[in-house]
Amino acid sequence: MSKFTVLDHPLIQHKLTMIRDKNTGTKDFRSIANEIAELMVYEITRDLPMESVEIETPMGKSMQKVLAGKKLAVIPILRAGLGMVDGVLELIPAAKIGHIGMYRDEKTLQPHEYFVKLPADIDKRELFVVDPMLATGGSANMAIDALKKRGANNIRLVVLVASPQGVEAIQEEHPDVDIYAASLDTELTDNGYIFPGLGDAGDRLFGTK
Ligand code: PRP
Ligand code: URA
Repeated sequence: MSKFTVLDHPLIQHKLTMIRDKNTGTKDFRSIANEIAELMVYEITRDLPMESVEIETPMGKSMQKVLAGKKLAVIPILRAGLGMVDGVLELIPAAKIGHIGMYRDEKTLQPHEYFVKLPADIDKRELFVVDPMLATGGSANMAIDALKKRGANNIRLVVLVASPQGVEAIQEEHPDVDIYAASLDTELTDNGYIFPGLGDAGDRLFGTK
């Protein structure tokens, strides 16, 4: 079974509380969501493989460490996933970006895919799929299906708030995909919202209704 990790760093928890607050407006919500994504990626990338290379400092030759292994790509699930991309790019500015458009039918809660545009070499990259909310898990599961169908084989899912049902759904369908969240919230409401959650992430990020 895949790993599920809650990143409980105090800065992440403090900032998450700020965006949960319904009085936090669009401008602050946007910047803080990106700050949380940046902190999360800092924690998640602790285990990236390294290799030694020879360089020359002003003092002479020396063996030093650099990142080894696969290159990275960030895959936001549209729309709300866009709200985490800039934060990831702060730390990994050379990452390629792929987009997967997905919306949830408000009545059935079923996800619908409407757009997929990915880097050509996703089979050779380590992919960070980002979306603020993992509710029923339907959207993330379908996004991961779309990536695997196109050759992806190294995927991590990074969300701000997860529900127990969402985590279980991903672990069942994609046991190879590790999940990272800033919080595991207590429940899903009857209409598919995470409680206490932060409301509709897309609407809060983009100022829509
Ligand atoms: C939200 C959210 C996730 C999805 C989570 O997107 O950003 O993608 O719902 O719900 P699920 O786990 O039950 O599938 P939404 O469909 O509202 O689209 P948006 O990002 O365009 O607002
Ligand atoms: N999508 C959101 O934006 N918020 C939720 O609580 C659930 C799904």
